[in-house]
Amino acid sequence: MSNIVNPLIEEYIRNTICKNEGLLKEMEEYALENHVPIVQPEVSKLLEVITKIQGAKDILEVGTAIGYSAIIFCQSSDGGKVTTIERRADMIEKAQTYIATAGLSSSINILQGSAEEVLPSLEGTYDLIFLDAAKGQYMEFLASCIHLLKPGGVLISDNVLYKGMVASNEYVIRRKKTIVKRMRTYLDYIMENPKLVSCLLPIGDGVAISYKNKEA
Ligand SMILES: C[S@@+](CC[C@H](N)C(=O)[O-])C[C@H]1O[C@@H](n2cnc3c(N)ncnc32)[C@H](O)[C@@H]1O
Repeated sequence: MSNIVNPLIEEYIRNTICKNEGLLKEMEEYALENHVPIVQPEVSKLLEVITKIQGAKDILEVGTAIGYSAIIFCQSSDGGKVTTIERRADMIEKAQTYIATAGLSSSINILQGSAEEVLPSLEGTYDLIFLDAAKGQYMEFLASCIHLLKPGGVLISDNVLYKGMVASNEYVIRRKKTIVKRMRTYLDYIMENPKLVSCLLPIGDGVAISYKNKEA
């Protein structure tokens, strides 16, 4: 459990969500067996809903892993394109296989490399950006993400409450202190940045949603 939501409530919410079948189910099982962190079911639903509300067609993801959330974005976007960044070659290989099985190879483009290097090299703008990579680096990625987001676009940042540690020192494990400190700085920054309107949601491992003001 996440330390973020009362386990009873979390279980109730999860049980309201229809279980995936086919490829997504297979990917969930692979992720569980191989300890690959993919979005939790309630976060996956949130991504789907926001993609549809936003009518997002150009989507950028930082942190592909095996391609699970990239496939969800693509399938929710009604013909949209997903660009996703991943530094690990083994993850990319697996993601490519799953994406091909989903028939989405022409809609999902994986860029191999470290996000800190890839993000500043990107051109164009995006309706939606999903930040789901190394938690200690979010602040490093933020300037590029704001720059790459269209006015009226949405930035979704995952794992921002990090097992509750970001909210309370009571939960902080000594070796995670730096990541927690960095994440608190990140959250202060997105909450106070005049270009963004942001809110924090206590679901999954904590999700921040930021809207880029049209006049930004
Ligand atoms: C939480 S997983 C992504 C899960 C995926 N978004 C999903 O829900 O299906 C994070 C991934 O980000 C990658 N990653 C972490 N830091 C990165 C960086 N600085 N640049 C590129 N990839 C990074 C990791 O290798 C890992 O595969």
